[in-house]
Amino acid sequence: MQIVTISGSIRTTSLNRALLIELGRIIPAPHQVHMLEIADLPHYSEDHEAPAPAAVTAFRTAIQNADALVIATPEYNHGYPGTLKNALDWASRPYGRGALSGKHVAVIGGGGGTGGIRAQVQLRQVLNGCGCHVLPRPELAVRFHEAFKDGVLVDPKVSEMLGRIGDALIAQASRG
Ligand SMILES: Cc1cc2nc3c(=O)[nH]c(=O)nc-3n(C[C@H](O)[C@H](O)[C@H](O)COP(=O)(O)O)c2cc1C
Repeated sequence: MQIVTISGSIRTTSLNRALLIELGRIIPAPHQVHMLEIADLPHYSEDHEAPAPAAVTAFRTAIQNADALVIATPEYNHGYPGTLKNALDWASRPYGRGALSGKHVAVIGGGGGTGGIRAQVQLRQVLNGCGCHVLPRPELAVRFHEAFKDGVLVDPKVSEMLGRIGDALIAQASRG
């Protein structure tokens, strides 16, 4: 199974990115995990949908070729980042033929005291609107100040949850 991952945070030392790197280590072969970058996507404009910029076409193709996605999002001001929304808007088009339609998607993430759960709730709603099959559970909202020390994941329960989410996503995607 081909699984692509997307971090809603584009900073180099992002802890959401770190969660996805850990997930990539945990998901066993022969499944393949590949992280997509969203930092270089231009601002969405309907003027540039077709032909789309090269970075957008590559992003859409990678999603189209994937069997499942995992998105890790931070919480910015009680929502998920605009950078991630921009990427999803590109991937959702052209209308009726968007790359996200019918994809199996797991949502994870982290943040402060609430673990960024408000961002995940918003993100799940938008993914439903894009025609995705969002994995209902297990859920994972990581309190970063507890789970990471100096940028390193130190909470084994988080790794265990990542493994369970990977298994559940693969099982859901296998059922079609
Ligand atoms: C603009 C901005 C807004 C933020 N708002 C929230 C918030 O509403 N809730 C929260 O839990 N954390 C908030 N944070 C803290 C982030 O969750 C924290 O920086 C997190 O580590 C970012 O994810 P990253 O490590 O993947 O970049 C905010 C951070 C920024 C930069």
